[in-house]
Amino acid sequence: MASFGPNSTTSEVIEGISLAGKTAVVTGATAGLGIETSRALASAGARVVMVGRNQEKLREAAGQLRGIGLAGSLETALMDLTDLDSVRTAAQDLLAKYSTINILVNNAGIMVCPLGHTKQGFEMQFGTNHMGHFLFTCLLAPALIAGAPARVVSLSSSGHHIADIDLDDPNFEVTEYEKWRAYGASKTANALFAVGLDARLKSKGVRSYAVHPGVIQTDLGRHMDDEDKARFNNPGRVFKTIPQGAATSVWAATAPDLADKGAIYLEDCRIAGPAESPESRAGYAAHALDPEKADRLWQVSEALAGEKFCW
Ligand SMILES: NC(=O)c1ccc[n+]([C@@H]2O[C@H](COP(=O)([O-])OP(=O)(O)OC[C@H]3O[C@@H](n4cnc5c(N)ncnc54)[C@H](OP(=O)(O)O)[C@@H]3O)[C@@H](O)[C@H]2O)c1
Repeated sequence: MASFGPNSTTSEVIEGISLAGKTAVVTGATAGLGIETSRALASAGARVVMVGRNQEKLREAAGQLRGIGLAGSLETALMDLTDLDSVRTAAQDLLAKYSTINILVNNAGIMVCPLGHTKQGFEMQFGTNHMGHFLFTCLLAPALIAGAPARVVSLSSSGHHIADIDLDDPNFEVTEYEKWRAYGASKTANALFAVGLDARLKSKGVRSYAVHPGVIQTDLGRHMDDEDKARFNNPGRVFKTIPQGAATSVWAATAPDLADKGAIYLEDCRIAGPAESPESRAGYAAHALDPEKADRLWQVSEALAGEKFCW
């Protein structure tokens, strides 16, 4: 197995890999890790569909990457994850355009926003980070199966250690809302989704991975207040650059070493093991990769989306 680590960059992990003829879809491609993930995949020759909720930002991000002159091509698609109708429309448009998809990176995300709700009434972090991506991926599954071997990468976070997801109250209707707990629960859902998806699609050649990218200064911190920032920017914190931060996603999407693996949690361009202690943020918490919980989340998500999926 090739050896990479916390300082590895997108360019290093994708070196020598050709994605010519492959189609990759990246959500949240208008900022931070999503732009860099798109750049790296296109640099290896992929046709990359950059997905975002803001047409102007999409045009700017795709234009910026086209200006570099990458081996692959950049296309764009509009989708707002806070509205399942928008997710359905985007998925239909993509299925009409692309009969095969080889890589899907569910990268978009929000963190610690004040209590809010999506169009369908889900708590904002659960709805954006998990429910939107759940439906988007399930609707794109026929193209992923047609594109097999294919991979789905779900951006989780070491923040999943903050909280398991309460499947009896995923939208904080009973429990009092706490923004960090809600972020942690949504990132646990992202990891559990990788487990549930892998169980359903691995026999069809579609493998799924959960990724913690590291800690990177991006727009993700836009909702943090002064107290959060003071805690977050403590002098002991080691930040990654954006190319280092996006490297684990790109490695998950392309590394030959991962071809026969799935339902795993990756960090620092490696397969992570279980966390050594509940306080440790390195490695995964047991609740994030629990197959039974992943199955329950799947059923709750289907019920909330009002659609069942069978392939
Ligand atoms: N940065 C870190 O330290 C860190 C650590 C752990 C995990 N992560 C995870 O990594 C992923 C990428 O984060 P980042 O740091 O690159 O954050 P970022 O710079 O804030 O980018 C987030 C992306 O998600 C998009 N997005 C947000 N809400 C959306 C919605 N309703 N519909 C569609 N797109 C939406 C944003 O679109 P706009 O441009 O329109 O806002 C943006 O393109 C996230 O899932 C995050 O949880 C990041």
